[in-house]
Amino acid sequence: MKEQLETIRREALSKVKEAHDLKELQDIKVTYLGKKGSLTSVLRGMGKLSKEERPVVGEIANKVREAITNEIDEKTEALEQAALEAKLENEALDVTLPGRPPQVGGPHLLTSIIEEIEDLFIGMGYEVKEGPEVETDYFNFEAMNMPKGHPARDMQDTFYITNELLLRTHTSPVQARTMQQYGGGQPVKMICPGKVYRRDTDDATHSHQFTQIEGLYVDKNVRMSDLKGTLDNFAKSIFGSDREIRLRPSFFPFTEPSVEMDISCKVCKGDGCSVCKHSGWIEILGGGMVHPNVLEMAGYDSEKYTGFAFGMGPDRIAMLKYGIDDIRHFYTNDMRFLTQFHHEKGGAQ
Ligand code: PHE
Repeated sequence: MKEQLETIRREALSKVKEAHDLKELQDIKVTYLGKKGSLTSVLRGMGKLSKEERPVVGEIANKVREAITNEIDEKTEALEQAALEAKLENEALDVTLPGRPPQVGGPHLLTSIIEEIEDLFIGMGYEVKEGPEVETDYFNFEAMNMPKGHPARDMQDTFYITNELLLRTHTSPVQARTMQQYGGGQPVKMICPGKVYRRDTDDATHSHQFTQIEGLYVDKNVRMSDLKGTLDNFAKSIFGSDREIRLRPSFFPFTEPSVEMDISCKVCKGDGCSVCKHSGWIEILGGGMVHPNVLEMAGYDSEKYTGFAFGMGPDRIAMLKYGIDDIRHFYTNDMRFLTQFHHEKGGAQ
């Protein structure tokens, strides 16, 4: 029996020494000291021993139990300590490392351009208006002097929600909405930026969704020269004071007469180069004197009131101003493109 106890001691201690983790130690404890463990079963056989032998063997057994328990406890502590050290090592924090700068957003280039143009017109006494992108056939076309079946509707094919509801093809319906709101008796001076839609196949210069800024000035005695002066001011402040403008005759159903405005080419200053297709001029926007029908439909007496209106595309303006060659860059959310313009007016650094 003494030898048996000695073997148990040796075996158990060497296993404890080799144990790699707490789970192994627990298993060893169960194997040797547990209720069904080998030490326990040896002790159960003690009844067979003589009276003299019993206390001697009992003492040895207790010592063996003590030795194994101590060894397990020590090893447990050592393993726990090692685990803690490894964890600390792993989670070591170098407080001297530079921090990661948080990514700061900035306005989209189109937003910056629109805000720049808004500021300019607010300075000239204009109010900034908004209108719905889902528009009625009436405001998008009829109130703009394009009755059903009018051929000019073909140029502005769009996405229909129902026969009478559609995605607006231009910001011009906000002209009619604002004039109606003013009730026919007051002057109107407003611009309206917003998204517009057309059934176009997307390519470098076309997008089924783009932006426009509408301008409308209605009052007594508003003249074509007012339009020209306003647009000249706009062109010089957005593109540079050395730029010239010219107006060419054009056609829109909702203005009469209608014009197209060009600015002198920045590259060749009017001599002709590849940027301006050798004309010296670059087309920027459409405008004209508000058609009497449009005034009348919106409740204004066209004998008393006259007005001018214009519509421009911030996408095109941004493309010309910054030499951007593909309109799709504005809508495909490539941060490498967008962040280049965060320093533009109103943008974060
Ligand atoms: N709505 C016209 C377009 O989208 C632009 C325009 C607006 C022309 C106002 C004249 C007056 O092409």
